[in-house]
Amino acid sequence: MAKISAQFVCAECGAAHRKWSGRCDACGAWNSIHEEAPVASGPKGPLAKGRAITLSALDTEEPPPPRSLSGIAEFDRVLGGGLVPASAILVGGDPGIGKSTLLLQSVAAFARRGLKTLYISGEEAAAQVRMRAQRLGLGDAPVRLGAETNLRDILTTLDAERPDLVVIDSIQTMWLDSVDSAPGSVTQLRAASHELVTLAKRRGISVILVGHVTKDGQIAGPRVIEHMVDCVLYFEGERGHQFRILRAVKNRFGPADEIGVFEMTGAGLAEVPNPSALFLSERGQPAAGSVVFAGIEGTRPMLTEIQALVAPSPLSNPRRTVVGLDGGRLSTILAVLEARCGIPFAGLDVFLNVAGGMRVSEPAADLAVAAALLSAREDVALPADCVVFGEISLSGALRPVAQSENRLKEAAKLGFTTAMLPKGGKPGPGAGVSLREMADLTGFVGEVFGA
Ligand code: TYD
Ligand code: MG
Repeated sequence: MAKISAQFVCAECGAAHRKWSGRCDACGAWNSIHEEAPVASGPKGPLAKGRAITLSALDTEEPPPPRSLSGIAEFDRVLGGGLVPASAILVGGDPGIGKSTLLLQSVAAFARRGLKTLYISGEEAAAQVRMRAQRLGLGDAPVRLGAETNLRDILTTLDAERPDLVVIDSIQTMWLDSVDSAPGSVTQLRAASHELVTLAKRRGISVILVGHVTKDGQIAGPRVIEHMVDCVLYFEGERGHQFRILRAVKNRFGPADEIGVFEMTGAGLAEVPNPSALFLSERGQPAAGSVVFAGIEGTRPMLTEIQALVAPSPLSNPRRTVVGLDGGRLSTILAVLEARCGIPFAGLDVFLNVAGGMRVSEPAADLAVAAALLSAREDVALPADCVVFGEISLSGALRPVAQSENRLKEAAKLGFTTAMLPKGGKPGPGAGVSLREMADLTGFVGEVFGA
């Protein structure tokens, strides 16, 4: 095998490069490549014996150990129905978004339900963690605390305490004395995570690693260790909004793309069991450019408001500003509107936003985006009791999307009476919502805006 001589590593994605460059070819991040100490070469001497077993020969008599529930329903659902014993979970997010708060609350909830838990903070002193816990009303929860950054000490503690669950906050502050680079570097992050995950699997301890997402590349981001863990959760939210969304992007034990919605309050994070109602609560009278999209997040239907503003632009290159949706998708929809329906947006600034700080990534939002853009451009409001969903293809045809029935049920539950959707989706009885089905975008424009 060729000897690995690469010593330059991207702190964002972990890609190895032979020489330094300003931009990482693998992930496109700027100024994230740093020199790292060479990785120690593999084991020397004769090959050790491995052991393989036949799948069918596995002892199936023993039922798998049960998952543990924290009782925080939003958290349990994102995990895929509770915490799997001996699993490794990564919780990533921007600094200050509320990761420590979320995990302290979860750990306390698990502890109160009888799990042996250990919370190790590398950022705060034990007294500070205790103060925070008291402020969150968790002062009496039987959680063991540790303030450590040296991994050797932590591994010893784990071996001695044998908890069911350990939280490491954050993995970027941990360092192994056998690795010759600074805490937070790619090499340290990888080595520390590897040690923790291996020990956890061997001892049957579930481990939750907290990872800061970094913009400047000074410390390595959690993407570097995503492949090592069973479950990757991102905690996200817009600054200035109270809502926080815990999103599963990888889960070996449950559905990915599942989300949990929380609200940051003065007393910590509160669960939001009915997010649709919350996201639509600030909606006033029907306004031009505002459309309610009936979406699905993971296994759960969720209604969100999509807002568009279209205004004449003083710029030769008009603005396209998007919050909460994919900018590329907006360009595609604008191009389809222009090419297939003859509605140009040239010379117009376009602003698109998902209300409440939600992020929508489903293609099913296409039709709602197009409706919001048209409504804003024509200055015509859609009926207030109407939801919209459907995918737009490049030909201008509307494609039915999955789970129409669930979307309609949620809309009916929140008092909506009409839905605009693609033809042929077989949405079932429609849950009492009257359906306006359309085959293509031109038909939609004609029927809704009379153009
Ligand atoms: P924190 O959990 O420390 O963030 P992270 O670990 O992701 O860096 O949360 C920090 C923010 O949360 C801080 O700006 C204050 C806010 N906060 C509240 O609004 N209410 C609370 O009860 C707590 C504990 C924090
Ligand atoms: Mg923190």
